[in-house]
Amino acid sequence: MEAWKAYLEEHKDRFLEELLDLLRIPSVSADSTYKEDVARCAEAVKKAMLDAGCDTAEVCPTDGHPIVYGEKMVDPALPTVLVYGHYDVQPADPLDLWTSGPFEPVIKDGKIYARGACDDKGQFYMHIKAFEVMAKTNTLQCNVKMMIEGEEEVGSSNLGKFLETHVDKLKADIVLVSDTSMISMEHPSIETGLRGLAYLEVEVTGPNRDLHSGVYGGGVANPINELCKMIASLHDENKHITIPGFYDKVQELTDAERKALNDAPFDLDEYKQDLKVNDVAGEKGYSTIERTGIRPTLDVNGIWGGYIGEGAKTVLPSKAYAKISMRLVPNQVSDEITAMFQKHFESLATPGTTVKVTPHHGGEPVVTPTDGKAYQAAAKAIKTTFGKDPIPTRGGGSIPIIALFERILGLKTVLLGFGLDNDNIHSPNEKYDVANYYKGIETIPYFHKYFAE
Ligand code: BES
Ligand code: MN
Ligand code: MN
Repeated sequence: MEAWKAYLEEHKDRFLEELLDLLRIPSVSADSTYKEDVARCAEAVKKAMLDAGCDTAEVCPTDGHPIVYGEKMVDPALPTVLVYGHYDVQPADPLDLWTSGPFEPVIKDGKIYARGACDDKGQFYMHIKAFEVMAKTNTLQCNVKMMIEGEEEVGSSNLGKFLETHVDKLKADIVLVSDTSMISMEHPSIETGLRGLAYLEVEVTGPNRDLHSGVYGGGVANPINELCKMIASLHDENKHITIPGFYDKVQELTDAERKALNDAPFDLDEYKQDLKVNDVAGEKGYSTIERTGIRPTLDVNGIWGGYIGEGAKTVLPSKAYAKISMRLVPNQVSDEITAMFQKHFESLATPGTTVKVTPHHGGEPVVTPTDGKAYQAAAKAIKTTFGKDPIPTRGGGSIPIIALFERILGLKTVLLGFGLDNDNIHSPNEKYDVANYYKGIETIPYFHKYFAE
């Protein structure tokens, strides 16, 4: 193990420089302007895999952005770890809120600022570097397969097919993912669940064209007014969601399970202070930890229509739109929830308006076991490098492909994330602590070691 430490120590600066180079590539999957950059990023990941010691690495084209796959088979008798991550990033806007360029990484106060620093370049790259540490010191204890995709942030729509057509190639004993967060460096934790997702767009149409709001105002329905009322009615006064059947399959936790979750260190004042809110808000009867981990939600992600340019324009708009997401928990099913939403929302159409609902991507919730060998190996690895047992938590985010690893490949997943909730993922000024990056590289080899034992 000393060999790992010495190697990491010796190559520390290069490990950081390489990550910064990767962060300079604007691999935004949602925006086709960046298609070439996404492709360039895939090539860079492939090269990194080969340089780190993979026997083979390839860029696999898909109908969307490519998947990068690399492996090193040490001995077929050893267990195999399949590492999953994503090299694509969210769009960087609003650009004017960044204090430095999103694709010009800078290190300030021990933190790397750049889009993708935490989600997920900084995190998947730890696995390539941890692999290098093990490969170059001849201490690999498991076979390693790495699959880093370029479409996670847009719903992983081509990865399911890749899994189905490469079941043999992807044969492994466990999937290992660093794309989640921990409570803090003082309170290391492991997420043992992720929420699912149902995402839709709605369109409300009133009159056939934009109208003068004086000439026609008061005479016909205003689709923006109506859309706001419809959206407002989706929650009751207790912030329960009003869609019929929405909670039917929600798994209620036992009192003991809820108590265990709420025992995790959480400072409500700090939380409010960090977000500059004078109070928290959410479903009645549940704590903030529960509201963001084990309860389903419905949120408007964007709403538009009418005139939003400079100054005032008197207009009664023809159309209003919103993008709406629902986070799901076991045992809700994304397609079923989408259908329930669609039926309910269409039924809310008020006189003089028509409503159209268009589903986008979805994903199923997952719970990862804490009693298996893999979780135990992860917990022991954390204990080794942090000096503390990790606290199991439930994550609020979604990684839709995790459910498919189980369904298509029959594989369980360990979510060994090193991000922090305030790393500003998807927001301006995304960051990742240099210390977390190195801690991850230090911890991952222990996972391989303990998993092989
Ligand atoms: N890495 C995140 C998910 C995440 C973040 C899980 C923090 C737990 C803690 C992932 O890249 C992500 O952003 N997923 C999307 C879903 C996807 C379909 C766009 C999400 O959760 O919104
Ligand atoms: Mn991610
Ligand atoms: Mn993300």
